[in-house]
Amino acid sequence: MAKLTVEDLQLEGKKVLMRVDFNVPVKDGVVGDDNRIVAALPTIKYVLDHKGKAILFSHLGRIKKEEDKPGLSMRPVAEKLSNLLGKPVTFVPVTEGAQLEEAINKMADGDVLVVQNTRYEDVVNGEYVKRESGNDPELGKYWASLGDVFVNDAFGTAHRKHASNVGIATNMEGKAAAGFLMEKEIKFLGDAVDNPEHPFVAILGGAKVSDKIGVITNLLEKADKIIVGGGMAYTFKAAKGEKVGNSLVEKDKIEVAKDILAKAGDKLVLPVDDVVADKFANDANTKVVEGDIDDGWMGLDIGPKSVDLFKKVLADAKTVVWNGPMGVFEMENFAKGTLEVGKFLGTLTDATTIVGGGDSTAAAKQLGIADKLTHISTGGGASLTYLEGKPLPGIVAISDK
Ligand code: 3PG
Repeated sequence: MAKLTVEDLQLEGKKVLMRVDFNVPVKDGVVGDDNRIVAALPTIKYVLDHKGKAILFSHLGRIKKEEDKPGLSMRPVAEKLSNLLGKPVTFVPVTEGAQLEEAINKMADGDVLVVQNTRYEDVVNGEYVKRESGNDPELGKYWASLGDVFVNDAFGTAHRKHASNVGIATNMEGKAAAGFLMEKEIKFLGDAVDNPEHPFVAILGGAKVSDKIGVITNLLEKADKIIVGGGMAYTFKAAKGEKVGNSLVEKDKIEVAKDILAKAGDKLVLPVDDVVADKFANDANTKVVEGDIDDGWMGLDIGPKSVDLFKKVLADAKTVVWNGPMGVFEMENFAKGTLEVGKFLGTLTDATTIVGGGDSTAAAKQLGIADKLTHISTGGGASLTYLEGKPLPGIVAISDK
């Protein structure tokens, strides 16, 4: 990789500032899905094994007012990390000042410290000033002054220009490196998008076409086929002049959808049948329809013929990128399309199969197919930005080799 990595750094006895993405679900002080913490462990352990002092920074949730802070403390995350590492982790409940500096100065080689939620800096004296998420230059400089080297392992935050990723890195000239998770994400997503083994098939789903226009536009140039499912398929259906009943349609995106259809030709593979329901509920009456959807009915999943068509398109793929579910998979009766496509992906042992995006990752896990796929990205917005072919500020700021 063209960027410096943690293996290029001298770590022994060093204060190693680390940006991780521990933006994990926390409910009533308990961490839910710890996937993002687990994914950062190899880099943290490497730093500790090489006798570095690991000083961890992460945001958690979004803080816009003082009252948001107590529920978004990093304390439960630090406790979870301590359990996973099997060693004590010091939690510092502030993001700057003497308490933090003294705690860092007391660290021995191989110790771990977690700093309070970096987005506490977004609200100062009750004012929403976005010091962290607006990359305040003084804040990045201050945090950088607390350490000797910087390791950025927060791929999930790489599309953000924060003081704790871009700010620290730019003040650590020549000593800002990527961690193993960051390296792995760049390798899988980078190879898929820029250097894929063909046939390269993208599967795009999810509710809104507006979220995926950039991805479709970029992948039209690179992929051999783009399969479209989920709610966004109905905007395309409407653009083709078909009736969509009460299905979700973004009316202001119909023209864009028409343009994409014209450019894509047979590269774009749309569902040929739908599971429609008479209300947005798991216990709705349902039927499978081909073509027009009548008023009073809404499409909530792809139908069996679409599943067969998608499998046929995927069968000889060598690279597959999947972003977004094929239907409302959270409701059991509309999860079949996502399940069938996901299960089929798991059988493509000759292909590199990559899942990017929060919803498809959740779907892969819920459906129990996660371990059958080559790579599940820890990035939601970050992997979408990557698939759009746009530079990610958090990666750009890492020092070149
Ligand atoms: C994510 O969960 O996608 C990242 O942690 C970024 O979080 P954000 O969307 O609140 O910036």
